Amino acid sequence: INMILLVFALAPLTSAFHLPGQVNNNLPRVQHNKVYNTQEYYERLQIFTENKRRIDKHNEGNHSFTMALNQFSDMTFGEFRKSFLWSEPQNCSATKGSYISSNGPHPVSIDWRKKGNYVTDVKNQGPCGSCWTFSTTGCLESVAAIATGRLLPLSEQQLVDCAQDFNNHGCKGGLPSQAFEYIMYNKGLMTETDYPYKAVEGTCMYRPHLAAAFVKEVMNVTAYNEMEMVDAVATRNPVSFAFEVTSDFMLYSKGVYTSTECHNTTDKVNHAVLAVGYGQDNGTTYWIVKNSWGSSWGMNGYFFIERGKNMCGLAACSSFPVV
Ligand SMILES: *[C@@H]1O[C@H](CO)[C@@H](O)[C@H](O)[C@H]1NC(C)=O
Ligand SMILES: *[C@@H]1O[C@H](CO)[C@@H](O)[C@H](O)[C@H]1NC(C)=O
Ligand SMILES: *[C@@H]1O[C@H](CO)[C@@H](O)[C@H](O)[C@H]1NC(C)=O
Ligand SMILES: *[C@@H]1O[C@H](CO)[C@@H](O)[C@H](O)[C@H]1NC(C)=O
Ligand SMILES: *[C@@H]1O[C@H](CO)[C@@H](O)[C@H](O)[C@H]1NC(C)=O
Repeated sequence: INMILLVFALAPLTSAFHLPGQVNNNLPRVQHNKVYNTQEYYERLQIFTENKRRIDKHNEGNHSFTMALNQFSDMTFGEFRKSFLWSEPQNCSATKGSYISSNGPHPVSIDWRKKGNYVTDVKNQGPCGSCWTFSTTGCLESVAAIATGRLLPLSEQQLVDCAQDFNNHGCKGGLPSQAFEYIMYNKGLMTETDYPYKAVEGTCMYRPHLAAAFVKEVMNVTAYNEMEMVDAVATRNPVSFAFEVTSDFMLYSKGVYTSTECHNTTDKVNHAVLAVGYGQDNGTTYWIVKNSWGSSWGMNGYFFIERGKNMCGLAACSSFPVV
């Protein structure tokens, strides 16, 4: 009886996958182009089923965010972490920052996506721990657009290939603050078009005459001072930050993310992103954050995370450049 039940329980899920050579005209839209050999298919199906169960259980509960199937639903969190997050702790920002906060007052909410053409489309880092490069380009793109009125997609690959001297490690991690330092000392960052993204480490192909964006100064926000982050986003521009991604975040779909699983200290953060605004709703305050896992993840590539509690260490190391 147990076996029969299992077969019936799995039947509706199998339609989300393909086996090579198997043609199934009843397949729904194929969303993530996953193809497996037969043995892998059953392993992946089992992981998928566990993730689906976790999602359903979470969504039945009373939470401020919902989970959903996405391109990571056939992975365990361990596999996901290996491909998409930092493997080693990074040297998170100086305890005392260089940023001098204004005295406010600050608006109740702000969204740089709505203030003008200041935020580029959501990008996709692929299986490479290069989130820090996307957080960096996203921030510099916005800061430059606010200063010049021109929004220009910038090169992550240059940072992956060339920024090692500033304690950055390509697909193995790095920090936006260190990447801004690199761009400042290197005297330039090329465009996405001139130095396109490959999701693997290569040799540095920087060409100075194609430098398109520059950094005059790096502003580090004082560690754990989330009010300084609010001030910077309210009065200046989007801000790069890092936080700890734990397994409950991989399947985030929408709403305000909050976790009891994650840590909140500099040594635990493992993913860098970009705060493009903040707001408050339903009694919670939150950040509006641009991620780099493609636009099909989360809310069109974005997520909200609870604000004001250093949630998952999000105030541990944040920074932005001055152009
Ligand atoms: C759901 O959670 C919210 C916030 O924690 C709480 O105010 C509310 O009473 C809860 N609702 C139920 C049905 O438990
Ligand atoms: C900002 O942080 C980076 C590394 O995280 C560091 O190299 C740099 O000296 C800091 N800048 C200032 C002005 O403190
Ligand atoms: C942290 O900084 C030290 C001193 O600059 C350096 O030797 C070390 O490699 C850095 N660690 C990482 C993960 O970048
Ligand atoms: C607040 O609740 C409403 C109704 O449930 C929902 O549509 C909205 O997305 C919520 N806001 C946030 C920030 O989650
Ligand atoms: C981290 O969380 C603990 C437990 O909630 C809290 O006591 C501590 O002050 C937090 N530390 C930081 C740096 O936010």
